[in-house]
Amino acid sequence: MKKQSPWMEIPEVRTFEHLRAAVNGYTYSRVILTALDLDLFSVIGEKTWTIRRLARTVDASERGIDILCRNLASLGLLDSQNGRYKNSPLGATALNRKNPEYRGAYLSLLQQHWDAWSGLTNSVRSGTPHDDGEPIHQEEYRRAFTWAMHHRSRDIAPRIAKHIDLRGSTTLLDVGGGPGTYTLAMLARWPKLHGTIGDRPAALQVARAVARKHPAGKRLSYLPLDFMAEDISGSYDVIFLSNVIHIYGPDENIELLKKIKAALNPGGRIIIQDFFLWDKKGLRPIETNLFAITMLLYTDTGNTYTAQEVKKWMTKAGFRALTIIQMPDEPLLEGR
Ligand SMILES: C[S@@+](CC[C@H](N)C(=O)[O-])C[C@H]1O[C@@H](n2cnc3c(N)ncnc32)[C@H](O)[C@@H]1O
Repeated sequence: MKKQSPWMEIPEVRTFEHLRAAVNGYTYSRVILTALDLDLFSVIGEKTWTIRRLARTVDASERGIDILCRNLASLGLLDSQNGRYKNSPLGATALNRKNPEYRGAYLSLLQQHWDAWSGLTNSVRSGTPHDDGEPIHQEEYRRAFTWAMHHRSRDIAPRIAKHIDLRGSTTLLDVGGGPGTYTLAMLARWPKLHGTIGDRPAALQVARAVARKHPAGKRLSYLPLDFMAEDISGSYDVIFLSNVIHIYGPDENIELLKKIKAALNPGGRIIIQDFFLWDKKGLRPIETNLFAITMLLYTDTGNTYTAQEVKKWMTKAGFRALTIIQMPDEPLLEGR
């Protein structure tokens, strides 16, 4: 049976009970985010803890930790045994900074989102980002964000690379490639391929660090650029554009697609990965629709788009033979 995304299980709000459940969704997030604030999963590590010892160790009240742990156990993030608690497999790995599977950079990003989302009413009123938007020029923020992207996609990238046929291609540019996670997965699959990550300098620092530890990392180059302000230099067989178009508005994306077209070798192709809206009304998947809110909170012009809309932009930019690559997760758009 096809694995269903947890987002598909969110019901539409049709009854008052649905409304209560939807509005109280934040309680679920807040419990998890508070556990992350206390670094509870790392403290618990591989051991089983009494409430008293755990409260003392994280410098919190026994009453607070008792209620918090019970709730984390009911969410499946901790296991409880006779009033003692230990980590669930997820808590012991992705949420535990002492484990190599730790996704700390991405968890920090989710923690920051709480404040941004609390300012949503202001952003809806003004149509502008909370807190003047993401500080894109602050190098430290950019590096942390790029690590977060790596922690988000390092498991899914090889699965996606499996569905992209790059036979016969020798050069690939990843525009806004960030940590290079997807390109490295494609290089691992195609030994004759050489990859280039095009991004801001701070993002490229992270890409270099990721590549140093990857078996295919030697086949990666780095192109510092601001693709909105300048043309894309070089020419490539394939250009990958992953999770970039949602940051910008339609006109900016059409201009970017034209620059990409100009940087492709004859017969070269673009492959676009993003959060696409797939139904006729442009309402689903719900995750994609909600992601447009994140773009309202963090960008000046970003949004999420239907695949049909993006195909129209691709046609305007000169791409033909547009295809959709079906995959287990999000489909991809391809054009020549
Ligand atoms: C959401 S991240 C996606 C990273 C990666 N492609 C992925 O799918 O994991 C967007 C990336 O685009 C880069 N970016 C956005 N606007 C840019 C611009 N004008 N010039 C260069 N890079 C840009 C950001 O620095 C960031 O690394």
